[in-house]
Amino acid sequence: MKIPLIVANWKLNGNENILTKYVKNLYNKFNNVKNINIAIAPPIIYLNILKKIIGKKNIFLCSQNVDIHENGSFTGEISAKMLKDIGVKYSIIGHSERRNFHKENYEYISKKFNILIKNNITPILCVGENIKEYISNKSIQTCINQISCIINNLGIKFFKNIVIAYEPIWAIGTGHAANKEHIQKVHKNIRKYIKKYDKKISESIIIQYGGSVNIDNVKDLFFQKDINGFLIGKSSLEINNFISIINNIQECL
Ligand code: PGA
Repeated sequence: MKIPLIVANWKLNGNENILTKYVKNLYNKFNNVKNINIAIAPPIIYLNILKKIIGKKNIFLCSQNVDIHENGSFTGEISAKMLKDIGVKYSIIGHSERRNFHKENYEYISKKFNILIKNNITPILCVGENIKEYISNKSIQTCINQISCIINNLGIKFFKNIVIAYEPIWAIGTGHAANKEHIQKVHKNIRKYIKKYDKKISESIIIQYGGSVNIDNVKDLFFQKDINGFLIGKSSLEINNFISIINNIQECL
């Protein structure tokens, strides 16, 4: 069985005090756990502070964003090289909030993917359909389009050891997760699509689900064959909630 990866996506929330306490708590609770990987994605300015708490085992730092350049005159940006410099292991790219609010298109996300791989940071590539696409049965096709653009630009070898997060836009932050059969079907088809290019990669790739994951639905979702972890927003913000979610997953292992 693949080691599941659970990521807390803090988005634009938290402060130094809250995040420090949160990560200390997480560290005390899960420092020695071997069968689960946990990552925390705080607002970027807190990454370096949290680095001092997490140690080097199974709790990792994740960036919520990265620029397409390594350095230069790009005011306000953070590069993959800098993230690597402070020990970041994962970076979320293609999140629907960036696709929508920042107009990041397939090509742009593909450049981010490239720069992360070059700098040895694991991309967590978010894909997912909007409500219109869901209703018209285009969930799988939308996800495949988002993935195929990167495969076409960079090649399947770039997908070795990366993470894909299936996040239907209509399920994010709504309190209504997609149902488990739907998620399993999409995950299975993503894996099947990748298999056409490389069997080994398709078998080893971690496919997370994200969108209103909570204490009550996480076990049911995790029992699905092709769900290998979760990208969690709202339900990760409160430490006891997040710990219970991880405990629930551990009970399934
Ligand atoms: P949510 O967010 O858990 O609050 O739905 C998930 C995400 O956007 O990654």
